[in-house]
Amino acid sequence: MTQILTGKPVAQAINDQSRELIHAHDLTPMMKLILVGNDPASMYYVNSIVKQGTKLGIQVECLTLADTVMQDELAGIIIDANNDLQVDGIMLQRPLPSGINARYIEGLISPEKDIDGIHPLNLGKIITEEPCFVPCTAMAVVRLMEFYQIDPAGKHVVILGRSTVVGKPLAMLLLQKQNGSNGTVTVCHSRTADLIRHTVQADILIAAIGKTEYVSAAMIKKDAVLIDVGINKKTKPDGSVTYVGDIDCNDCLDSALAITPVPGGVGSVTTAVLFSNLVQACLSRCV
Ligand SMILES: NC(=O)c1ccc[n+]([C@@H]2O[C@H](COP(=O)([O-])OP(=O)(O)OC[C@H]3O[C@@H](n4cnc5c(N)ncnc54)[C@H](OP(=O)(O)O)[C@@H]3O)[C@@H](O)[C@H]2O)c1
Repeated sequence: MTQILTGKPVAQAINDQSRELIHAHDLTPMMKLILVGNDPASMYYVNSIVKQGTKLGIQVECLTLADTVMQDELAGIIIDANNDLQVDGIMLQRPLPSGINARYIEGLISPEKDIDGIHPLNLGKIITEEPCFVPCTAMAVVRLMEFYQIDPAGKHVVILGRSTVVGKPLAMLLLQKQNGSNGTVTVCHSRTADLIRHTVQADILIAAIGKTEYVSAAMIKKDAVLIDVGINKKTKPDGSVTYVGDIDCNDCLDSALAITPVPGGVGSVTTAVLFSNLVQACLSRCV
């Protein structure tokens, strides 16, 4: 029977570790959360971070800026947060409005406060296998696999998607010469020819493409582990809205060895990883 890899117990275990560290070292971590504009998905994620902070007893200072904010003003806010001794971690919600150079702004965040792992220095350290903050969703997949003892060592891992926040860092993490990694990794993208030729070879298939229920049973190997990062809005025949992944869960259920649900899979682990990074940032500063 196909195992359903729910994110809740993984998030709980990560949150328990964060609570223990806070308690053991008497920490008072503080996150500066910056939202630019009013993108509904971003607002939903930001609200869930604030709620989770309240549950963990962690202060989250949320700053909402209009999408007309000037790049210089946003840069000034980031630099002030870097210099603010009360702030342990900075989380800049993306996407940023098109008039802002996202790469430039992301590069301004102090690498020590970059709890979302978007600074080029942190991204580079994934390749050199040095301790660093890793993009939260990529790390959420790793933590979920660890929790369910899905060892990529010697397995063929196929990742769909090559974004800077999910596909690429995840590929580098699963490729590392370390316990819990050592996968043989293939990364596919929108220009990959004959995608199915790659997906049917995957022992572990990770989908992060943002395409509603794109991966069907015909595209997977029997008894593959399927990890669905996608979160896509879907309107049901009755007009109501639901969220589904990049994998057609119902279609793949009988063929897969294990599958993450959407919602309730990787997404629920991501916020726990963000707070875990915040606690680590606070610990590094205080201890
Ligand atoms: N669970 C979470 O916590 C979490 C966090 C972040 C994102 N997400 C979700 O994860 C999904 C991906 O997010 P993202 O930020 O990585 O998206 P993104 O920046 O839009 O990147 C999508 C990637 O998928 C590739 N792609 C698109 N269509 C494809 C196709 N038909 N076949 C193969 N590859 C294809 C693109 O290829 P090209 O590079 O060639 O364009 C690109 O590399 C979205 O649904 C997003 O909502 C979830």
